[in-house]
Amino acid sequence: MSRPRTPVIGGNWKMNTNTESSRALAEAVGEGCRSIDGVEVFVCPPFPYLRRVGGALKDAGGGVALAAQDVWHEPDGAFTGEVSAAMLLDCGVSMVLTGHSERRHVIGEDDGLINKKTIAALNAGLSVVLCIGETLDQREKGETDAVNERQLRAGLNGVTPEQMASVIVAYEPVWAIGTGKTATPEDAQDAHTKIRDVIGDLYGADIAAATRIQYGGSVKPGNAAELFSRPDIDGGLIGGASLKADDFLAIIRSATG
Ligand code: 13P
Repeated sequence: MSRPRTPVIGGNWKMNTNTESSRALAEAVGEGCRSIDGVEVFVCPPFPYLRRVGGALKDAGGGVALAAQDVWHEPDGAFTGEVSAAMLLDCGVSMVLTGHSERRHVIGEDDGLINKKTIAALNAGLSVVLCIGETLDQREKGETDAVNERQLRAGLNGVTPEQMASVIVAYEPVWAIGTGKTATPEDAQDAHTKIRDVIGDLYGADIAAATRIQYGGSVKPGNAAELFSRPDIDGGLIGGASLKADDFLAIIRSATG
């Protein structure tokens, strides 16, 4: 039976790479993706390398999309250090992450700001990967589903049913990010089912069934296939392993099966 949704794999490079290594990584990923069908792929380089990485991806072929790690919600003005959706589009970006756990828990973004960014990005014509997920403390208190539901409802507040075609949700339990600890495929599947139920409650069954939900948190070539084999896990958002082209390509391949 074929999958109801095309899997999508993202590489979040976070604050890593430089001019030369970002170009080389983009080239290798783009070339590798030329022989992989049935999976959508995007990479999120740091802001300074977006344009160059976009050029390298285009030259390599392979159809890898260029994404940004963050966006500011105002169109222009006195916002020192920030980058608008129009600037991202101008650099060839087509997708952006909002609500990544490092923005929430290291930088201090709240649900209201993440919602503004999500709306601004969608209104500008970018696709959005809305990231949600619980901390270890919240998980131990049994709050996983409540936290996901709160972050999802707040993040999607004001997003229209039509715009949901341009939204991917990434479930990234904070305790699994960069720690080598991964949610079990059963736990991840369970969280994804509940997330899909919330989307169904907000937008109806058809949109819930069509929305891709990625898993993120210490996905590696060795655990990817098992995670992606679960019916509600539509690919992954990859941090550390996306910095090595061979590992990232192996993860992408395991989403085709
Ligand atoms: P790791 O794959 O390094 O755990 O990072 C996951 C992540 O935060 C992707 O956005």
